[in-house]
Amino acid sequence: MSIYDVIPVSVADYRRRARRRLPGFLFHYIDGGANDEDTLAANVSDFRRYRLQQRVMRNVDSVDTAATLAGRVARMPVALAPVGMAGMFARRGEVQAARAASRAGIPFTASTVGICPVEEIAAATGEPFWFQLYMLRDRDLVRQLLERARGAGCDVLAFTVDLPVPGMRLRDYRNGMLGGGIPGKLSQLAQIASSPLWAVDVGLRGGPLNFGNLRDVVPDPDDLNVYKAFIDAQFDPTVTWEDIAWLRSVWQGKLLIKGVLEADDARAAVDAGADGVIVSNHGARQLDGVASGISKLAGVAAAVGQRTEIYLDGGVRSGIDVLKAVALGARGVLIGRPWVYAMAARGETGVVNLLDVFQREIATAMALMGVNTLDEITGELIEPAP
Ligand SMILES: Cc1cc2nc3c(=O)[nH]c(=O)nc-3n(C[C@H](O)[C@H](O)[C@H](O)COP(=O)(O)O)c2cc1C
Repeated sequence: MSIYDVIPVSVADYRRRARRRLPGFLFHYIDGGANDEDTLAANVSDFRRYRLQQRVMRNVDSVDTAATLAGRVARMPVALAPVGMAGMFARRGEVQAARAASRAGIPFTASTVGICPVEEIAAATGEPFWFQLYMLRDRDLVRQLLERARGAGCDVLAFTVDLPVPGMRLRDYRNGMLGGGIPGKLSQLAQIASSPLWAVDVGLRGGPLNFGNLRDVVPDPDDLNVYKAFIDAQFDPTVTWEDIAWLRSVWQGKLLIKGVLEADDARAAVDAGADGVIVSNHGARQLDGVASGISKLAGVAAAVGQRTEIYLDGGVRSGIDVLKAVALGARGVLIGRPWVYAMAARGETGVVNLLDVFQREIATAMALMGVNTLDEITGELIEPAP
């Protein structure tokens, strides 16, 4: 970084700043992927396997980046992906991100394991948002959770299906975030001590630091480790497509199945009654060695694109990436780490600024591709890189 780099613009800029501000174990919790992180790298680099086409001499005086995402018009085909524990990365992180999304005119998705409960998010924005569900063994608890989400104004449910068990993220073990015992705790304290801005913003002023959506059902609401043990015991690995019928009986809003890569699974999701699928490998945090979402998108689009809405996440780092996903068949994309880096670095303002850059990148690229609307972006405007 040079003295000229004063204003963060790109995801990489915000990542650098987030790294400086956060305790190491939290930065690596966000930044890391499963095992050797091969898929993590592929999620980003596979976008470069595609080239957009430059089309000229067309009237592009009325470029419009708007898209209809799960039934509601958004300013661009982008939503904020669910990210657990966002309130650990900046003070009341979910609220800041939801406000930023609302200012940018796009959907925010609240995670089951967020720090801020859905009611707090609803009170802060007064706007509908999306809710993400992990299936818990206690179905009554799931039903109550969905009732709360509905009551808070969530009308879209993203049901995550790629986490029957948590993936092996080696960075989390290495830096003491998981299973570190007393050495891990001491290491965490040292990392916190060298992150004073974060310690004041989140440690002192960011409470309560517990999983707000689950706080009434966990024995010790203020001990994150107790929470984690509860959640690990509650995540239900027995779930199959048959459970979607039950989910449908307790959720009347839109249902997106998040975490599908294969065409057959996408077909099963649609057959089970989903309104859409999110092509995703969970930001490469689960199965390392699996394909990137972007490389699987066209296959899923060919299989179910006529029957359902398709979204993509994983590795989207710019407006250009968004348009590549649209050209390959996505109605829209979700971004995870990009918004978290921006929020950890600069809070709500950081997320708003990053989303503004995305929107301008999309609008500019659309004009240079010779289109005025996203509907005009078809497979004819994208080609494999040589
Ligand atoms: C720190 C972190 C926490 C996440 N927590 C959740 C979660 O609680 N629920 C979920 O469905 N996905 C979760 N994800 C996955 C994201 O929703 C999304 O699929 C992924 O981040 C997209 O990849 P990207 O980070 O490259 O944009 C998480 C991702 C990260 C980075």
